[in-house]
Amino acid sequence: MPETAWRVPHRIVTERLTLRRYRADDADQMSRVTLASKDHLAPFLPWARAEPLPPADRAALLETFMTDYDEGRDFPMGIFARDTGAYVGGTGFHTRLGPGALEIGYWIAYDHQGRGYVTEAVLALTHVALTLVKADRVEIHHTPDNLASRAVPQRCGYSYDGRELTLMPGVEGVEPTDMWSATAEHLSREPLASCPRPQAFDAADHQLPWHTRATSPR
Ligand SMILES: CC(C)(COP(=O)(O)OP(=O)(O)OC[C@H]1O[C@@H](n2cnc3c(N)ncnc32)[C@H](O)[C@@H]1OP(=O)(O)O)[C@@H](O)C(=O)NCCC(=O)NCCS
Repeated sequence: MPETAWRVPHRIVTERLTLRRYRADDADQMSRVTLASKDHLAPFLPWARAEPLPPADRAALLETFMTDYDEGRDFPMGIFARDTGAYVGGTGFHTRLGPGALEIGYWIAYDHQGRGYVTEAVLALTHVALTLVKADRVEIHHTPDNLASRAVPQRCGYSYDGRELTLMPGVEGVEPTDMWSATAEHLSREPLASCPRPQAFDAADHQLPWHTRATSPR
């Protein structure tokens, strides 16, 4: 088991989106959507270069996603549009930063960019991480040339923490990486302060109550 036993909701519902743990029956739509967006994703996400995955590899990947989620190693979530039910992207929390901190990753299908879906997902996940999951800190990392990705933490009111050489998943060697973060203090600043808290549900699909996080006086 990892050092920090994160308890992350299995389903998060925002105004326009459902963010949830993957299921085995997501395989077909995942294959369709990632293949259709391959050229858009591949420059920034090394895993996309291997698309399309053979069905057996897709099933194994989904199995890993689900097991990692259940055992607290990693929390990959699909992004689904509530109006159509369509699978439109991926997000979730990564735990590689160690105790106390979660990293948010994201991608959106080529034909669903420019609607604010990723911003909406990240605002919701930031509330969930800092309040429900009780992380001390949430981070977003991107390569300096990924301007569309940079705009997301900027729009969500994160603080820019500078550029470092880091290991990026799926990339050999170190890469320059721009780092952004949010802590409980950011929840009282815009746009997080006026962003409605999403509904969150546990593995048994029971809705989780929101408890106001106790903030330490400075
Ligand atoms: C990075 C990425 C996720 C950003 O996607 P995006 O569609 O620009 O982000 P959002 O969904 O938050 O949409 C924001 C855009 O929608 C517009 N928008 C429309 N309605 C909106 C709303 N209700 N709320 C916020 N923005 C809205 C914004 O103005 C913005 O457009 P602009 O860039 O022209 O100013 C996408 O480019 C992507 O998937 N890239 C490839 C994978 C990748 O790089 N992932 C990140 C790795 S670090």
